Amino acid sequence: MPIALVVNGRAMQTESDAVTPLLHVLRNELDLRGSRFGCGLEQCGACMVLVDGEPVYACAREVGSVANKRVTTIEAFADDATLRALHRAFLDTQAGQCGYCLSGIIMSAKALIDRHPAPRREDIAAALDKHLCRCGAHNRIIHAVERAAAALRQEARG
Ligand code: FES
Ligand code: FES
Repeated sequence: MPIALVVNGRAMQTESDAVTPLLHVLRNELDLRGSRFGCGLEQCGACMVLVDGEPVYACAREVGSVANKRVTTIEAFADDATLRALHRAFLDTQAGQCGYCLSGIIMSAKALIDRHPAPRREDIAAALDKHLCRCGAHNRIIHAVERAAAALRQEARG
């Protein structure tokens, strides 16, 4: 029996077994390749997506467990003001190097900013603690998240 999914606001379904990793379904069936495979062991954060607004390792989460929940991936960026602000800030500050870690980091940053529009530097560092960046761009990444949150607050003030 197909599993019903809601990905980036759209109803979808998969014929995969319920135990298939969500990341596999996103990348290989739904052609949403922005979420990356790094370790496959909940150790790097490259695969991070949001499920009902909370960061989740898609490499380890079984697709059956997210049936009918809201899955958000980096591809939601066109319809999401927080993702757009993050994208702009990362580009403006040239925060990444190779970029492999960034889609996962941006999803965790979105979850943080959506909950706490004015995060302190230590809040950002804590929210991104699960993420490895092999390029060592952490400081620039934290700065980009601060900048995105500030831009969104300014936008909200008009
Ligand atoms: S690929 Fe999921 S945590 Fe590394
Ligand atoms: S920018 Fe290369 S791994 Fe983070």
